[in-house]
Amino acid sequence: MIKLLVVMLSILCIFSLAYSCPPSDRAALLAIKAALNEPYLGIFKSWTGTDCCMNWYGVSCDPEVHRVTEINLRGVSEDSIFKMAHRTGYMSGTISRAICRLNRLSSLAIADWKGISGTIPSCITSLPCLSILDLVGNKLTGGLPTDIGQLSGLTMLIVADNQLTGRLPRSLTNLSSLTHLDLRNNFIRGTIPRHFGKLRMLSRALLSRNRLHGKIPKSISHIHRLSDLDLSLNRLSGRIPPSLGKMAVLATLNLGGNNISVLDLSYNQLKGTIPKSLVSASFIGYLDLSHNHLCGLIPEGSPFDHLEASSFVYNDCLCGKPLRDC
Ligand SMILES: *[C@@H]1O[C@H](CO)[C@@H](O)[C@H](O)[C@H]1NC(C)=O
Ligand SMILES: *[C@@H]1O[C@H](CO)[C@@H](O)[C@H](O)[C@H]1NC(C)=O
Repeated sequence: MIKLLVVMLSILCIFSLAYSCPPSDRAALLAIKAALNEPYLGIFKSWTGTDCCMNWYGVSCDPEVHRVTEINLRGVSEDSIFKMAHRTGYMSGTISRAICRLNRLSSLAIADWKGISGTIPSCITSLPCLSILDLVGNKLTGGLPTDIGQLSGLTMLIVADNQLTGRLPRSLTNLSSLTHLDLRNNFIRGTIPRHFGKLRMLSRALLSRNRLHGKIPKSISHIHRLSDLDLSLNRLSGRIPPSLGKMAVLATLNLGGNNISVLDLSYNQLKGTIPKSLVSASFIGYLDLSHNHLCGLIPEGSPFDHLEASSFVYNDCLCGKPLRDC
């Protein structure tokens, strides 16, 4: 009888071991917790006990192998703890390199905490399953990891509203699964890689409010799924590639606040210096060319005839509807 009990107990132990998170994942999460300070909501109070797959706030595990697959910590949320606290979240501290030990992680969101500083741990490029990286709305500094292109399954790279510096890594264009790229509102400098068009799965490319200079790569027009392209408020110069006008699903094109000039006037005699081919971009719903150095007649036809003056203001000498007559 006692023997049977021992056998049953040990089976129970093996079972509960198999069904709780491995100690290494738990230790990594506790190291992540130790590097962060969340003073108002107490979300890390739930990060206690042996089973990190059981009710740890924002942590999800694979139901079969019980490895941590998701960390989803958002400072702006409909979650009841935010309603009860009557406030949005705030966290300080840094993102620990311990995150790289969670090697089954597919989604990492530590977003909108306003005060998290330090760099994006470069070791995250060794996480083989990472599909979503969302670190928007913190105070992160430093650059994107240079070998970010290793993350072949990455679909979303969302690091807007931080203080990131450095250049766009050359390996970026190797992210062949990327659908959403949002780098808005950082201090990223350098040029947009010439082969940016290799990102064939991209549907949103939001790069506004950075310090990018150089030309808009022609290859962007090879991204057939691209629906939103926002390059506004950078230091881009040169011509608008006419091929942008042939992009079938492009719904929003924002090039405002750059130093774009259409200097090749030879065929246009100061007229139509906004590429006429943009007229064929009948799917463009929103176009902003303000604050550039464009000159000449605003072409007639879609998309131009349903745009407001604000899309064209602060250029050198644009004229025609919706601005003054030429
Ligand atoms: C991009 O990927 C290819 C193929 O895996 C590799 O040979 C190349 O070095 C990578 N480029 C960069 C800049 O990492
Ligand atoms: C804007 O472009 C013009 C012509 O290429 C150049 O002369 C000027 O220095 C640029 N301005 C800025 C602020 O980059």
